[in-house]
Amino acid sequence: MASNSDMTVEEVPGSYGTPFFTPISDRLEFYYQGQDKYFQSRVDKYKSTVVRLNVPPGPFMASNPQVVAVLDAKSFPVLFDVSKVEKKNVFTGTYMPSTSLTGGFRVCSYLDPSEPNHAKVKQLLFNILASRKDAVIPTFRNNFSALFDTMESQLASDGKSDFNALNDNTSFEFLGDAYYGVRPSDTELGTTGPSRCTKWLFLQLHPLMTLGLPKILEELFLHTFPLPSFIVKSDYKALYKYFSEAAATALDNAEKLGLSREEATHNLLFATVFNSYGGMKVLLPGILGWLATSDKSLHERLAAEIRGAVAEEGGKVTVNAVAKMELTLSVVYEAVRMDPPVKYQYGHAKEDLVVESHDGAYKVKKGEMLFGYQPFATRDPKVFERAEEYVGDRFVGEEGKQLIKYVVWSNGPETEKPTVANKQCAAKDFVVLVGRLLVVEFFLRYDTFEADVGNVLLGSQVTVTSLTKASASSSS
Ligand code: HEM
Repeated sequence: MASNSDMTVEEVPGSYGTPFFTPISDRLEFYYQGQDKYFQSRVDKYKSTVVRLNVPPGPFMASNPQVVAVLDAKSFPVLFDVSKVEKKNVFTGTYMPSTSLTGGFRVCSYLDPSEPNHAKVKQLLFNILASRKDAVIPTFRNNFSALFDTMESQLASDGKSDFNALNDNTSFEFLGDAYYGVRPSDTELGTTGPSRCTKWLFLQLHPLMTLGLPKILEELFLHTFPLPSFIVKSDYKALYKYFSEAAATALDNAEKLGLSREEATHNLLFATVFNSYGGMKVLLPGILGWLATSDKSLHERLAAEIRGAVAEEGGKVTVNAVAKMELTLSVVYEAVRMDPPVKYQYGHAKEDLVVESHDGAYKVKKGEMLFGYQPFATRDPKVFERAEEYVGDRFVGEEGKQLIKYVVWSNGPETEKPTVANKQCAAKDFVVLVGRLLVVEFFLRYDTFEADVGNVLLGSQVTVTSLTKASASSSS
């Protein structure tokens, strides 16, 4: 995209309204009209994709709801540039959950790369992912083939199967298995892990949630004060015990990197439960949901590509086989382009800045909060044709590859790599592999399927209503 360097630098348009009152009425508008309308109406009103507005939760949860929103593909990437934005304590936005939910520590996601422990924890995660890379495919297949067995029996008995519910349980088992070689259900946790995780996640995210309860109750209990952390104390303790035992080898490595065992355990819990489990809860239903709404011909093409590549590898799902699946990769990218699993990104301007959008250049002052609503960057019609449409093969071929850099679900362009010096998702490659493995496992088993797709808290709800088993004998 061309630079606007010859443009005059303007003040950012928009208004925060009357302190205290406007943030509350904005919050109501945001939750009850929906986020897309909330942002679009301000873009339209001020005729700018860089605009001042309030973000939820506002009073009393956040001391300052005022942000400069960057709402197109050109302005959004300022949030990835850690020389321009400070990422300290902004992971969840304008409020930060109490550190009593994380053992008193500020975990990696809340650290700016300038803080010494950021590099230590991120390196620890890189080391775990590298040391367990050969475990990912077999543990995924093992856990998710059991999921599909269950799905088939639910369809036979009830005529439908809730993918989200199955995915919650399976993803948690898979993550423990893949990262630490210890399935949580084989430990004292038994099958209680996912519900404990969900409660703990809720305590951190409730300020940004709406559950469809009467407004007055939601305002009072979800959006005004933080819920007390003692509600999940025993859940956290049980999860902590699992990590302190299952991750013993990784914790030895943490000590070598200069982290205390305690701080490392809280960090591994957070990275596994919040970042990974929380991510997979949204990512996998998102991918399956988009495939369900696509043409049967896309299913056919995926089945052919996947089965062909696996056959070439002697019937095995290998890293090599997956790497050859261009359409499979494209359907995953397209799902996270349409619905980035983490939709909001934030950062404080480190200095006075000029932020460029497609149409203008705007002054931002040191210390101001920049905020991005990612779907407006990844559905930008100036970058993507038919931007609001799910086009499964969008990223296939030479032309398609040129667009990959605009896929930014990981808090950075898909063409770049996470490092200890940036804030890009530590598990970028793992996540894209897992997304593809879901598609691979699915189309090795089935030719096509149908599902009802709706919305839940932070993503899609997918209820599978029919599965057509693979007609040709497929390999595994
Ligand atoms: C950071 C998305 C899975 C570990 C991030 C950020 C995003 C993201 C958007 C940047 C947040 C910000 O600073 O504004 C996702 C999604 C996932 C996922 C959509 C889907 C499954 C994982 C997994 C791990 C992980 C599996 C496991 C290690 C992290 C860590 C950070 C991070 C540690 C902070 C990076 C840093 O401080 O430099 N992720 N993530 N994420 N993610 Fe992921």
